[in-house]
Amino acid sequence: MSGEDLSRRLRVTRSAVWKHIESLRDSGFEILAAPHHGYRYLASPDRVTADEVLSGLDTGVIGREVLTFDTVDSTNRHALDAGRDGTKEGLVVFAEGQTRGRGRLGRAWASPKAKGLYFSVLLRPSLEVKELPKITLASAVAVSEALAEACGVEALIRWPNDLLVKGKKLAGILTEMSAESDRILFLVIGIGLNVHDSGAALPQGSTSLEKATGRRWNRCELAVHILKKLDDCYSMLNEGRFREIALLWEKSSAISGRAVSAKTLNGEVRGTAMGIDGDGALWIRQNSGLQVKLLSGDVTLLRQS
Ligand code: BTN
Repeated sequence: MSGEDLSRRLRVTRSAVWKHIESLRDSGFEILAAPHHGYRYLASPDRVTADEVLSGLDTGVIGREVLTFDTVDSTNRHALDAGRDGTKEGLVVFAEGQTRGRGRLGRAWASPKAKGLYFSVLLRPSLEVKELPKITLASAVAVSEALAEACGVEALIRWPNDLLVKGKKLAGILTEMSAESDRILFLVIGIGLNVHDSGAALPQGSTSLEKATGRRWNRCELAVHILKKLDDCYSMLNEGRFREIALLWEKSSAISGRAVSAKTLNGEVRGTAMGIDGDGALWIRQNSGLQVKLLSGDVTLLRQS
């Protein structure tokens, strides 16, 4: 578009147009300027911005408010604080990098700057504490479906909510909550997805989207896809449609019918993963025939196939 058209449409002077173009370029936008022809927008910076996320979202709840940070200790920590301060559900907190990214079971989540997606969603579902696995599984389904639709990647789910590509971990989800007696007051779903090849070694047994597909992906577009799917799954849960989520989960399960070992707070359980029940709990049939119900833990496949 020519500078003249822009200045007419925006009702600013030609020099103001130029200044704005320069400031967009300073922020990393690629804009071509051809004398006598005008400007051509080429690409956005590889950065997750609230404006870009919000302009791609048409969701009911998730993304009502979007905050983006360059670096934080943990987006989960930030969203949990917001929950305590009474922030409405739907807030999404993104960071380009995290200094103390949290993983499940007290582990750390490597969060090198601009290499992955690191974000947390604050929700206030009317669920009982024992129903927390429903949200955990729904978020894994959302990420798996978004990756299939946006990137054509088959990411299988390892209970409860690790996303694996060819047996390697691509994404992890950490759900943290605040509760009063048996009711959830609010919860935070934290998602970490390895997007670009960072050059530095990924944690052992992990992969990135770039490694898995051989190309780079726009992190902002990916985030929008995931948030839309999360919003869909959240409304399914609120409508009492967990059964449908469970079916989607089973369809993408990396473990159903397989020999697994589960590390739980009460020790190790070995056997065949039978699938999840209506509460989102995993059932394992031990060799003795005894069936064990797991609400949390860490599952590994005993044999890769
Ligand atoms: C896992 O151990 O698999 C869960 C990893 C979850 C990491 C994400 S990154 C964004 C959010 N903020 C955190 O501190 N952790 C989660």
